[in-house]
Amino acid sequence: MSASVAIRQGAPDDSDGIEALYPDAFPDEDLLPVVRKLLDMPSGVLSLVAVEDGVLVGHVIFTDCGLSDADARLALLGPLGVASARQGQGIGSALVRDGRERLRQAGITHVFVLGDPAYYARFGFAPETGVATPFELPVSWRDAWQSLALAAAARPPRGTLSVPEPWSDPALWAP
Ligand SMILES: CC(C)(COP(=O)(O)OP(=O)(O)OC[C@H]1O[C@@H](n2cnc3c(N)ncnc32)[C@H](O)[C@@H]1OP(=O)(O)O)[C@@H](O)C(=O)NCCC(=O)NCCS
Repeated sequence: MSASVAIRQGAPDDSDGIEALYPDAFPDEDLLPVVRKLLDMPSGVLSLVAVEDGVLVGHVIFTDCGLSDADARLALLGPLGVASARQGQGIGSALVRDGRERLRQAGITHVFVLGDPAYYARFGFAPETGVATPFELPVSWRDAWQSLALAAAARPPRGTLSVPEPWSDPALWAP
């Protein structure tokens, strides 16, 4: 990634850049409704931006989650988007790695993602079978459900991921 790209926590001033980024990175999908809801939450969300010369070129959200019937400090990664003209230059990777370290330091033990294993395996994500998604996934998406351990847990988490309201929409968990 170019040295002129900086990763930092998102701020209210980033909203115009975020509103412009998502339609560009995801031309076939409208993720802004869930992104807006997540960023409106008073707590429980880590929003990171990649900025170059004052222009927002990447964004990722990590949402604090738990388990439906046990204590756990988990996080869900997504969405992750990089400006179309800047994809393939290490910006997405820098956002994921920066977030991974911040979450580790904050005591989160596992991060979950629903995404392409060909991309997320490079960060250590592996198929998840012990923790179920809040809504049943279509069979064709099951390999996309992955997790990454950030700390040596006594026992790996088991159960169903409990998510805050913005993620409690079955449409976000189906094609
Ligand atoms: C997916 C995305 C976030 C990756 O960020 P990026 O900055 O482009 O990626 P990086 O430069 O960190 O990594 C590049 C590598 O990822 C691979 N890659 C990029 N997008 C990929 C995808 N959707 N699936 C699988 N691999 C992908 C590239 O082939 C490249 O592989 P290589 O290192 O083996 O050459 C970005 O391309 C993007 O915003 N795409 C459109 C939105 C999207 O599909 N988001 C999915 C995540 S929710």
